[in-house]
Amino acid sequence: MPRKKTRIASVLAPVLLVPLQRASGRALRHQLCDYLRASARSGALPAGAALPSSRQFADDLGVSRGVVVNAYEQLIAEGYLIATARGSVRVAPTATMPTKEPMAPPASATSTAHTAHTARTGSMAPYVRIPTGHDFITAVPDTSLFPRSAWLVAQREAFRTLPDAELSYGDRQGSLLAREELAGYLTRARGVATRPEQLIICSGFAQGVRCICEARLAQGHSTLAIEDPTHPYERVFLAHTGIRLLPIPVDEEGIRVDALAASEARIVVVTPAHQFPLGVALSPARRAELIAWARDHNGLIIEDDYDAEFRYDRAPIGALQGLAPDHVIYMGSVSKTLAPALRLGWMAVPPHLVDELSWIKVFQDYGSPVLEQVTFAHMLATGAFDRHLRKARRLYRERRDALMQAVARFIPQARVRGIAAGLHCVIDLPAGVNEAEVIDRARELDVSVYGLSWFHAHPDAYAGPPALVLGYGPLRTPAVVAGIRLLGKAVRDCLLRA
Ligand SMILES: Cc1ncc(COP(=O)(O)O)c(C=O)c1O
Repeated sequence: MPRKKTRIASVLAPVLLVPLQRASGRALRHQLCDYLRASARSGALPAGAALPSSRQFADDLGVSRGVVVNAYEQLIAEGYLIATARGSVRVAPTATMPTKEPMAPPASATSTAHTAHTARTGSMAPYVRIPTGHDFITAVPDTSLFPRSAWLVAQREAFRTLPDAELSYGDRQGSLLAREELAGYLTRARGVATRPEQLIICSGFAQGVRCICEARLAQGHSTLAIEDPTHPYERVFLAHTGIRLLPIPVDEEGIRVDALAASEARIVVVTPAHQFPLGVALSPARRAELIAWARDHNGLIIEDDYDAEFRYDRAPIGALQGLAPDHVIYMGSVSKTLAPALRLGWMAVPPHLVDELSWIKVFQDYGSPVLEQVTFAHMLATGAFDRHLRKARRLYRERRDALMQAVARFIPQARVRGIAAGLHCVIDLPAGVNEAEVIDRARELDVSVYGLSWFHAHPDAYAGPPALVLGYGPLRTPAVVAGIRLLGKAVRDCLLRA
C-alpha cells in the first residue's frame, strides 16, 4: 500500500510533539536526534517537510537553541535532513524508509560458472612484513585491550544458560539470542533499520562479502564495484571469488557516484562512515546520490561499517543502510572493537535476500560458532560491550592526538587527514619527496609505514601527491611519538637528498 501523504510536508514550521524526557539521563540533543530520525524514517515527517527554525523549535521545546542546532547538524550529516539555500531545514527526499516497491528479487540463476579470474589482484607484499620496532600497521586494533575479564564473565553466563539444543547445528542465520541483542545494538548505536530476522551472523566482512559475490555470480552478474583506493587485501580476496572488480574513484566527499553510474556495476562496496583508507565520510549529497543510484538502477550497496564505533571529533555518523534498507546490505564485525581472531560479524540484509545469503553462508561452514555469538550477546545485554567501547575510544583518541601533535612537531611540512575516526590516518608528505624513498628510509630507521599509492588499484600508475597511510591503533602513545620522530628524520633525509 502506498504510504498516505500527510499534509505536514506543506506546513511551514509544524508544531511537533517531541517526547523529551528530561529525567532520563540521555542528552536532550540525542533525544531530539532520535525522534527526528525515527520520524523521518517512518514517514511521520515526510520527505520535504519543513522543520521549525532552530529558534522557534527551541522555544517550543523549552531547550537551548544549541540543542536544536546540534541535532539538525547531525541529521544533515547523516542525510536525513537537508539545509536549503534559503536557510530552512527540511526532511531529505531519501529519508523515508520505503514501505513499497522492495528491490526486485534477483533474476533466476542463469549461470553458476564463475568467470575466469581476470581482475588485477594486486600485491600482497606488505602483508609479508618484516616486523620493525615501530609498525604503523593498518586495519588491526590493539588486541591487548581485549576485555578478557568481561568476556569470561559473559562466556560463563552464556554457557551456564545455553539450552542443550543450542549446542547442535544451529539456525543458519545464527543464534536468535545474538541476533536479537545485535538488532537492538545496531539500531541504537548505528542507526541501522533491521530486525533479528534480517540479520545473518557470519565470520566477518570477509565471509559476508564473499557470500554476496557468490550469489551474484550465480545470477550471472560478473562485476563488483569497489572504492579506489581500498584495502589491497580486500581486492585480493574479492578477486579470488572470480568476480571482476571495477575500481571507482573516491574524492573528498567519498565515492564518485557519477563514475559508478557510468560503469556497468549494479553492486558496490562502500565505507561511508570512514572511507578506507582516505578517512573521508560520504557527504550527505553523495549519500543521497548513491541511494538514488541504487533505486534507479536496481542496484545493491554493500556498506562496510568496519570502524565506525571509533569516532572522535563529532557524534557518530549513522549507517547509510538506515536511509535505504531495501537497497543496502549493512556489514559489521567485532574485528576492530574486540579482536579479529573472534571471526564474528554480521550482515543486515533486505528481506528478499535473507534466504539466499543464509543458505550460501551455511553451505560454506555449517554456521558460525554459537558460543561466541551468545557470549557477545551477553556483553551487549549487560552493557559490558559499551563500557569496553568507551574505554577503547578514549585510548585510541589519546593515540590519535599524540600522533597529530608528533607530526606537527617532527614533520611540520606534512598534513594529517582522515583523522576524525577509526584507527588510521593519511599523512600528506611535503611536495618533492618520493613516497617509496621515504618508506625505504623509514624502514632503515626501524619504522614500517604504507604508501598511499599501494592502496590504489594501479599503484604504478598512481600520480597523486606522495602520502602515507599510518595505523596507530595497536601502538601505545610513547611508541606513536617515537615512531613519528623517526619518520620525521626519514622525511628530512629524503628532502635533503631531493
Ligand atoms: C576496510 C575493511 N573492512 C572490513 C574489515 C574487517 O574484516 P573482517 O570483519 O572480515 O575481519 C577490515 C579489516 O581489515 C577492513 O580493513
